[in-house]
Amino acid sequence: MRNTLVRNKTIPTFFGEVQLKGERTKENIESNSNPTVIYNHPDGKLWQGDSIAWLKSLEDESVDMIFADPPYNIKKADWDTFESQEEYIKFSIAWIEQAARVLKPTGTLFVCGFSEILADIKHPASKYFKSCRWIIWNYKNKANLGKDWGRSHESIMHFRKTKNFTFNIDNIRIPYSEHTLKYPSHPQAATSQYSSNGQNDNTLWEPNPLGAKPKDVLEIPQDIIEVPTTCNGMHEKTPHPTQKPEELLRKLILASSNEGDIVLDPFCGSGTTPVCAQQLNRKWMACDLSPEYLDWAANRIELVEDWTQEQWIKYDFENQKRRNSIR
Ligand SMILES: C[S@@+](CC[C@H](N)C(=O)[O-])C[C@H]1O[C@@H](n2cnc3c(N)ncnc32)[C@H](O)[C@@H]1O
Repeated sequence: MRNTLVRNKTIPTFFGEVQLKGERTKENIESNSNPTVIYNHPDGKLWQGDSIAWLKSLEDESVDMIFADPPYNIKKADWDTFESQEEYIKFSIAWIEQAARVLKPTGTLFVCGFSEILADIKHPASKYFKSCRWIIWNYKNKANLGKDWGRSHESIMHFRKTKNFTFNIDNIRIPYSEHTLKYPSHPQAATSQYSSNGQNDNTLWEPNPLGAKPKDVLEIPQDIIEVPTTCNGMHEKTPHPTQKPEELLRKLILASSNEGDIVLDPFCGSGTTPVCAQQLNRKWMACDLSPEYLDWAANRIELVEDWTQEQWIKYDFENQKRRNSIR
């Protein structure tokens, strides 16, 4: 089925006047000044500055969810270059310690990276959290030019502050496979994952009307230009070198926060996290070193559609169903 929801391409106008929701508060920023708000919106703020200094200025246990797509130390840009892996690990633990401090007890921290890089950070970071799950983000549409293994995944560590962390499984259910739906209700063996109580009682399994249980391997295209959408597919793309797809962020925000909650991103880049938080009716706060990236982020936030959370869930569900059907 085609998505009938169509994304905004331009900021709404009223009698020819562009209707901005937020306000740019600073034009020229000194590069080593304290973190400064440069965009102020009724639902959140963008700060320009160093994220460790910024996180240190925030109150304990004041934030519901943090998504961090930090430098990977793979020399993609100036901000991605560290003297050594030891320096990089030190930097990572310094911001993660602060992130853990500002998270509420129900909070989650997601940290993105290549598996071989996150492996260095998982153990020293774990002391600030109750538990961690390891999510694989699988993509099949990345150009792989080198002679090494072709990369088709990145990892996302899912740290939980306590055992009472927020997790909304029904918000992120996925389409059932054709095969499963061929036999919509049938008896289950006690050993089946679909058996209701583990007894050999011929339990009838019926598909959940909201979809199948989401797995810890997320299948989302990496190159957002190729995400099939109803409009031109370019709505979210900026020149940022490592921009994450909105669909990935919506899934994580839907899973680990509720409407009205505060979502924070210490490495905001082109603004994918605040954009998706705004779409899903969360409050947001985000920081980046680069005023240029933050300017792109502010433009994207102004374009956010006035849809409900349910409409976004349906939008992504239908896109995933369509991708599955053309595999
Ligand atoms: C991997 S990118 C994030 C991309 C983002 N997820 C997006 O979708 O556009 C990392 C970002 O961290 C920023 N950054 C690097 N070091 C930083 C620091 N110490 N404080 C604040 N931002 C930093 C960079 O400018 C870059 O935009």
